[in-house]
Amino acid sequence: MASTANDKEKSSLCFFSSYSFSSFYREIKPSSLLPRIRFVVFVLLCYVLWLRLLFFSFPLGSSSSSTSYSAAAAGHRHHQLSRSPETCDPDIAPFYIHTIHPRFNAALVRRCLSRLACCDVCPSVGHLGLGRPLLRLPDAADAADAVRGTAWYATHPSTAEMLFHARVQRHPCRTMDPEAAVLFYVPFYAGLHVAANFRQANHTRRDALALDLAAHLSSLPIFRRRAGRDHFLAVGRASRDFMRSPAGPDMGANRLLLLPEVANMTVLTVERHPWEGHNQFGIPYPSYFHPRTAADVAEWQAELRRLGTTHLFAFVGGVGSDPEKADIRTSILSQCRMSDRCLPVECKPGRHKCNDPELIMDVMRRADFCLQPPGESFTRRSTFDSVLAGCIPVFFSEHTAHTQYRWYLPSRPAEWSVMLDPSQRDQIEDELARIPRAEVGRMREAVIGSPGESGPFIINIETNDR
Ligand SMILES: *[C@@H]1O[C@H](CO)[C@@H](O)[C@H](O)[C@H]1NC(C)=O
Ligand SMILES: *[C@@H]1O[C@H](CO)[C@@H](O)[C@H](O)[C@H]1NC(C)=O
Repeated sequence: MASTANDKEKSSLCFFSSYSFSSFYREIKPSSLLPRIRFVVFVLLCYVLWLRLLFFSFPLGSSSSSTSYSAAAAGHRHHQLSRSPETCDPDIAPFYIHTIHPRFNAALVRRCLSRLACCDVCPSVGHLGLGRPLLRLPDAADAADAVRGTAWYATHPSTAEMLFHARVQRHPCRTMDPEAAVLFYVPFYAGLHVAANFRQANHTRRDALALDLAAHLSSLPIFRRRAGRDHFLAVGRASRDFMRSPAGPDMGANRLLLLPEVANMTVLTVERHPWEGHNQFGIPYPSYFHPRTAADVAEWQAELRRLGTTHLFAFVGGVGSDPEKADIRTSILSQCRMSDRCLPVECKPGRHKCNDPELIMDVMRRADFCLQPPGESFTRRSTFDSVLAGCIPVFFSEHTAHTQYRWYLPSRPAEWSVMLDPSQRDQIEDELARIPRAEVGRMREAVIGSPGESGPFIINIETNDR
């Protein structure tokens, strides 16, 4: 990527980069590498499970009520796995899930479900974070059957932290004995909390729960033993939402990730800070498809291949509020509207088109390429939607995926995605049309994935040496 593009992006996030806290981060010493590597492997495999096993075997039906949710969130309930690995893979570090007060997780969900909190992720926290089941089975005998059988949910992008929690609870490498654990997961739903407090003008109040958690952790001998370095969080929002800097404008963030206790921990996040997220590792946004069996995946892959594409490219998105990025998006939207080879879905506040998973999937699966310009932040859930829909993602910044999800991406981005330089952004159609059809076919196949796999976010995952 041209350095001018980097500079441009950097300046648009300058309120982060102007604040340096590199001193918080430790140097990795050889002795601390082993657990770290094991941790990486663990998370990698967690992700394999995320797509293959946990998606395949996610508990359904009975989990819709808030009471069963709270129980699950508090870790008291174990769901039966239909395709669970029986034993812990020796390459995966045994981990312990801390039991923390429900105010850090279950109460946040209850608050959402009780509709005391409005909007954002709250309408979608049901079904352990999967959200509302979608009826996509036209020939199902009745609606109840269709719901039971569905693998599709109106999943909100911010629920990764809830899905992660629900899944690791049933992981065979979970140990109930802290002394036997190498890693420690702290199931704080930081994303739910920050979203409920974006409008809280009083910073003391906005940061209170994060400080509360830090105080609780540092009171635990097991946390102090390695200064928190063997502990980790998983958060469902961009890390910048937890990195409020006094230097920048107040975007509603708190200071969770800047707290000294947390700065020594590892943070799994759907969007790592490109320059300052040294202890942050990207995990994928959840999309709408939560297959329970390999047959669910194969059926969807076959449907994508059978339907084929009708358009060269598609754009699902709106013109954001950030004037710097709105520029790219305004241009993309007008280029898309002017071309009969592009399918636009314009998102506007108050209009619900962009909350309609079926419309989004339908548009994306009809296009060869799906444009993924940065939005409010670098990453977009839409990247994962497009991969799911078999649509080749077109990126405008390396920070939208390539520097984010390194554990999960195939090593050669060009095999499954397109990167447009600033000089190519005014003739998107020409640039995409120039790619030979055979090449488009190969990329699309890589995105759809081979039988039993699920697209580029899983291809090569077992040979990934990170
Ligand atoms: C912010 O909240 C704290 C704790 O509730 C309170 O003590 C403080 O006075 C508040 N500050 C302002 C400026 O309102
Ligand atoms: C974080 O780690 C550093 C280096 O090991 C240590 O000196 C520091 O006390 C730790 N911070 C906390 C809050 O435990």
